[in-house]
Parts: sequence; C-alpha cells; structure tokens
Amino acid sequence: MSSPLVLGIETSCDDTACALVDGAGRVLSSVVSSQLAAHRPYGGVVPEIASREHLANWPAVSREALERAGVSLQDVEVVAATRGPGLVGALLVGLSLGKAIAFAKKRPFHAVHHLEGHLFSPFLRAPGDPAVPLPPPSRFVGLVVSGGHTSLFAVEDGVVSTLGETRDDAMGEVFDKVGKRLGLPYPQGPRVDELAELGVPGARPLPVSRFEGLDFSYSGLKSQALLEIERLERTLGPIDLAEDADGEREPPQEILDLLAGFRTSAVGQVLARLDRLHQRQPIATLAVSGGVAANRLLRRELPAWAERNGVDLRLVPLVYSGDNAAMIAHAALLRHRRGAADDLFAAEAASRIPI
Ligand code: KG4
Ligand code: ZN
Repeated sequence: MSSPLVLGIETSCDDTACALVDGAGRVLSSVVSSQLAAHRPYGGVVPEIASREHLANWPAVSREALERAGVSLQDVEVVAATRGPGLVGALLVGLSLGKAIAFAKKRPFHAVHHLEGHLFSPFLRAPGDPAVPLPPPSRFVGLVVSGGHTSLFAVEDGVVSTLGETRDDAMGEVFDKVGKRLGLPYPQGPRVDELAELGVPGARPLPVSRFEGLDFSYSGLKSQALLEIERLERTLGPIDLAEDADGEREPPQEILDLLAGFRTSAVGQVLARLDRLHQRQPIATLAVSGGVAANRLLRRELPAWAERNGVDLRLVPLVYSGDNAAMIAHAALLRHRRGAADDLFAAEAASRIPI
C-alpha cells in the first residue's frame, strides 16, 4: 500500500458509501449500501428517509470498508466526503461524519464536488495494479452522464472548464421518467436499458436532438417518447410494466421497439456532440463516467467511436459508474497531491454548486 491512505465518504443521494484508496489511486475497498428498498414504495428518493438511512447504515458500511481494506481508522491519513451537489440533508450526514473523523484523528480533510469524483473515476486503479503513482493525463476531455448531469469538461493540469451541458433534463433522468411512465420501479434507467436490448431500434426511431453547439437537450426526446407511449396505449390498452415485473408476461414488442429507438436517439446525441467537439479540436483522451456510463449501448458505441477517431478512451469500470466513495477518495487524493486541503469548519454542504 502506498501513502497516503485516503478514506472517502459519499452520501449525496440514496447510496451510503465508504471506500479506501491508497496513494497510487488503487481501490483497496469500496462499499456501497443501496437504500432502494426504503424508497421504492414512494417511486423516487425521499430526502428525509435518505438522511435517516445514511445515519443507520454508516456504522456497518464503514466497518466493512476498513475490514476489506485490512486497515484501521488509525491508519487513515486523509479524509474526504462529498460536499455537493445533492440532497442537503443527505450530504450533511457524510460531510459531518468525515469532519468528525478528520477532527478526532487530526487529519487533513477534503470536501469534494460529486462531479469531480465522477470526472476522474475512469482513472481509478485496481488493487493489483503496480504501485507507481500514475496521475491522470494532464489534458483530457471528460464526459459525465448521470441522473443529474450530462456534461462535457476540458481538464488541463487539474483545472476543469465546462464545454457543454444539458439545457434541460439529464440523460439518466429521461431514462428514469420514460421508465416511470411505463410503471417500472425506481431507478428505471437500468431496466429501460435491459428492455431496449430486446427491441428493434429501427422499428420506431426517434430523432436525435439537433441542438447547436456542445450543449445537450433531452426534454424533447422525453416528450416524444411519452407521446409515443400514449399513442400505443390507444391501440394496446393501458401499459403497466410493473405487472410484468415477475417475468410472467413479456412487454409488448411495440414498447420494446420504442425503448430501443429511444435509447438509440439518446446515445446518438452523445456521439453527435463528441463528433462536433472532435472536429473543432481533436480529442486525445476521452474519459467517460457517471451512472449512465453503465448503459449497454453506450458501452458498445463509445469504443467503436473512439477507434474510428483515433481517441484514447477511458471508460469508467462498470463497478464505479454509479455513485461510490472510491471516486471521492480518489478526487481528494489528486487534490491532496496539489497541496490543497479544506478548512474543517468552513466546508459546507450545498445542493447546487459549480464544479
Ligand atoms: O451517477 P449516478 O449513480 O447518480 C447521479 O449522480 O445522478 O447516476 C444515476 C443515473 C440514474 O438516472 C439511472 O437511471 C441511470 O444513472 N442509469 C442508467 C443505467 N444505469 C444507471 N441509465 C441508462 N442505462 C443504464 N444502464
Ligand atoms: Zn453521481
């Protein structure tokens, strides 16, 4: 294990996460406890329940993370927690726990931006990797696709600037909303992706947003998909895929085709923006991260796109695509190397903050 040993905490939404990352950016342990069962009856995340669940889950989650890494709290040299964006009550739990540990053990503390965690997550390393402290490339383009963000960033020597972002809904958000309209349980994105695999993308195609520039827009696609569902219901009758969740009934083929067309358009927009950016200014390295980076079609199309364009693609490993604390510890490690630490008493949680 190389120094410093970083403890990361992430509680921005509905996952309670704790991880240990060593000084070479290797993940020694990453524990994520999902609160899905607690929120499912409400069809989405209930902020107060999230906060209470974080408090209840933390002792077991942190104990497991330390045990799996084979270290004790005493060995931790740097402490990090997410400061936002996210649900303030949920963020406050993790941030306060992190501050308390840093205060008690007299360790430097980093309050990390959630997106900064995702942005650098493709460069996380496995425990077996050699202990050379390989920093991320000094220049790369980062694409973060999640439930709250669809953003393109330029990163240069640790300085992050925004190239483009969504003007309305985020990519993951529209997967969730379309899935919700079909009666699927939260989070709908992964299930919509699974169902789209069974459809024929060309059977019910939806247009790709023709937005100018590098910004994204997904609300038009969402409206079109919802309208198509309404149209289909006129001939098929009300559609509620929750009833089919036990696997006894296959969803109608028309719906599967529609979801396939929807997903192709959503992914097509990402590729169109990358094309545009690459034409303006060739991309050497592209790092893709965030919950939607788990999307099957995106994971097939991106390597093909990178190959065609001679781009070095760093696609976040599937296990670190969703929210996790390893990415928070890792982002803190990179900050720590640059000599920056946060004032324990000044660091605050915030629901919306620029990166
Ligand atoms: O990064 P993340 O875990 O949380 C945020 O920071 O938002 O991303 C969660 C989002 C949700 O909208 C979820 O439905 C979506 O990622 N998602 C997917 C897939 N897996 C997760 N969307 C499409 N296809 C997937 N396979
Ligand atoms: Zn996230």
